[in-house]
Amino acid sequence: MTIIRKSIAAWLPVLAASSFIVTAAVGEGLVNFKIENGAVPQPLTGEPGNPARGRQIVRDMNHVTCLICHSMPIPEEPDHGEIGPPLAGVGSRFTASELRLRLIDPKAVNPATIMPSYYRVSNFMRVGESFRDRPIYTAQQIEDVVAYLSLLKDN
Ligand code: HEC
Repeated sequence: MTIIRKSIAAWLPVLAASSFIVTAAVGEGLVNFKIENGAVPQPLTGEPGNPARGRQIVRDMNHVTCLICHSMPIPEEPDHGEIGPPLAGVGSRFTASELRLRLIDPKAVNPATIMPSYYRVSNFMRVGESFRDRPIYTAQQIEDVVAYLSLLKDN
């Protein structure tokens, strides 16, 4: 694994072009996902994402809120981050499938990113016992947030 990690930049074009299954989900009740061409086209659950719920989830301080790093069109929140790009209009820039991968595992898109993986649970080092096999979001929360972000269109 170390070798693959070191040369991941060299592998990226290959990974992006191919489709492969990530056995991210090792714990009970976790869902496997398939990365295809820089996206995860298949929803993680059978229940369609609920955008209103997604908007609540992204603000939740107990779930590593996106607002630490991003500004979002959520005017009632006083503090917005500037580490990542503003997320207004993100639904015009990415498809739902691309947004899903960016939430599940942003490192699959950019291995050097500081954005946390909200669903991947494998390949971390020295994860505290209570956090093992526990992604930040549940599969349904991923779908709810994807549904919310998809609605953030440019005008
Ligand atoms: C610790 C900081 C951090 C947190 C927390 C974070 N992100 Fe990010 N995010 C980034 C950075 C930095 C980028 C820029 C791209 C990169 O690093 O690869 C990014 C990129 C993105 C992108 C691609 C945007 C674009 O225009 O390229 C999306 C979508 C995104 N984040 C959504 C989210 C959502 C939704 C959450 C919360 C569920 C979140 N991020 C939490 C740091 C963060």
